[in-house]
Amino acid sequence: MPEERLISSSMREEDKRNEYSLRPHFLDEYIGQDGVKEHMRIYIEAAKNRGESLDHALLYGPPGLGKTTLAGIIANEMGVSLRVTSGPAISHAGDLAALLTNIAPGDVLFIDEIHRLNSSVEEVLYPAMEDYALDIIIGKGPSARSIRLELPKFTLIGATTRMGMLSSPLRDRFGIKEQLELYTPEALKEIITRSADILHIIIDEEGALEIASRSRGTPRIANRLLRRVRDFSQVRGSGIIDLETARQALEMLSIDELGLDGVDRRMLRAMIEVFKGGPVGLDTIAAYTGEDAGTVEDVYEPYLLKLGFIARTSRGRVALTAAYEHLDYAVPNQQLRLEV
Ligand code: ADE
Repeated sequence: MPEERLISSSMREEDKRNEYSLRPHFLDEYIGQDGVKEHMRIYIEAAKNRGESLDHALLYGPPGLGKTTLAGIIANEMGVSLRVTSGPAISHAGDLAALLTNIAPGDVLFIDEIHRLNSSVEEVLYPAMEDYALDIIIGKGPSARSIRLELPKFTLIGATTRMGMLSSPLRDRFGIKEQLELYTPEALKEIITRSADILHIIIDEEGALEIASRSRGTPRIANRLLRRVRDFSQVRGSGIIDLETARQALEMLSIDELGLDGVDRRMLRAMIEVFKGGPVGLDTIAAYTGEDAGTVEDVYEPYLLKLGFIARTSRGRVALTAAYEHLDYAVPNQQLRLEV
């Protein structure tokens, strides 16, 4: 059987438990992503009224925005069970067959990082998605034959940070496609306030907004920073998180007013100082930051693009005026021309 996992194993045990308890369970508790919520409400209600399973759904967007959470909510709203796995955990077609043959009618199968499924597994997934059937080959060579195993109607929810890496036959088999976007500081403030309530942390509005503004539009980061600021306020402060405590704690963590950390700054400095603003290739940027290219693309770039600090061009990434200003570099004339 493939490994089924709930939350990234790289997190601290305490953070893992907290992350799980902080997840909202129903759409009404889910803050932000208003467009996605409204669409899902309609699709869920319509499917329930018809007594059918929900169409297969693909959720895409940067990491930490709540794709797994949303899959759990969809299952709860549909009143079915959720099974969680990931692309890399399903290494053989047999792993997928084992998962699918154990599923109950209407259940949701969530495959995180679905772009990392190998092609032999994808081949098995196509008829499962389209016809709710598994084609199993028995035997080898000329005597091999295929038998078809009927499956219950289920919903596949795929999540990916890389829509572009999904093969088009797989992409086309999802009836619902929803893009999750980076959250506004106001939405993150609400999430932090809700999380603080659940974790019995006392925080005022300004403290919550300060953490929110430095969380790169990402609830997972907001919840992590909330816990670290709590540690700081417990040991160095009054135990209550206000603006000053939040600022001091985040400064100690080298997270600046916009939420940029050491990696972001190394990346921007390399682009500006070494490459005169670019264009610079992704692999070169990755080498300078000490991260792999995939992490730079998935984790660091989306927020820098959103801030208007960098742009992607056909020849590589370029640093924009806002990045020069934020890091106190003089803006070169050539840079100004790039943007007009
Ligand atoms: N915790 C993490 N993401 C959340 C969201 N979108 N709404 C409420 N709580 C959350």
